[in-house]
Amino acid sequence: MSPRAALRTSAPAKIILGGEHAVVYGVPALVLPLSGLRTEVSLRESNIPKLRILLGDLPNPSEAQMAFVSGACRTITAALGHGLPDATLEVRSSVPIASGLGSSASLCVALSRAFSRLHGTSMAPADIQRLANEAEQAAHGRASGVDTAAIAWGRPLRFVTGQPPEPFALAGPLTLVIAHSGEVGSTQAAVMDVALRRDSEPDLYGGYFAGIREAVDRMVQALQAGDPAALGAAMTDNQRWLQAIGVSTPMLDRLVRVATQAGAHGAKLTGGGWGGCAMALAPEDRAEAIGRAMIDAGAAWAQVTTVGASQP
Ligand code: PMV
Repeated sequence: MSPRAALRTSAPAKIILGGEHAVVYGVPALVLPLSGLRTEVSLRESNIPKLRILLGDLPNPSEAQMAFVSGACRTITAALGHGLPDATLEVRSSVPIASGLGSSASLCVALSRAFSRLHGTSMAPADIQRLANEAEQAAHGRASGVDTAAIAWGRPLRFVTGQPPEPFALAGPLTLVIAHSGEVGSTQAAVMDVALRRDSEPDLYGGYFAGIREAVDRMVQALQAGDPAALGAAMTDNQRWLQAIGVSTPMLDRLVRVATQAGAHGAKLTGGGWGGCAMALAPEDRAEAIGRAMIDAGAAWAQVTTVGASQP
């Protein structure tokens, strides 16, 4: 990097079509990058002997937010064999936090790209995935790695923990309505809670996870066949299993219900749950109306997005 030139990188958000939580126990998850929401990082060398971190979107970042960003920088630079650089790091993100859209993984991928470029290390998506995942794990404990995989590869993936991700092609673009419940989710707490309940009732939870696996398999078939009605039905079934394992909320259930009543092919929560976002698979000509119905039902916001065959 020349002395004052800023090095800029970015990374998308992600959305889980199916298999969240169960993916922690070996069930495949289907995950898509969302290129319209991004984390942007700029790194500029400075004469001040420290890494100065500015969270551009947050005038008063909390201690936890600052600790997460500086911890991620430390983990990533150490994994690259370096200390923290003397530089100013600026982070801007349009990915809502604690919403199931992968804000922390998006940050970790953008940071991994920035620090690897700073040190002149060219990294393939698999290397960025590994590096970003290390930073996520250090901050969040148990995580399947599904978020960092989707974001580092930037393409739709079928993901099984510990295996190389399998890119899959979409037969056609998907129109999704993403709506925020207005509730703040905590993936880490939800994952820990599911783990405790699964430990005390392993057979029951084994059955729930088998149900999710079956729904995800049907999603794969529907995606290959370009059958949105079958894809939506499998998503709604996945939501029933997510309710059973206790990660939905009355508001998320309500958003799913009104979306299907307003004409969605199917709907479910996405990500860790206990708040965050619901998503609906919409016929293109119903998407705006479905978004409005979700707002009327209490969503903080709703946004229509098209995930194309050539994402991102
Ligand atoms: O980070 P989130 O909220 O999008 O959820 C990630 C998916 C989980 O399956 C709930 C956790 C994990 O590590 O796979």
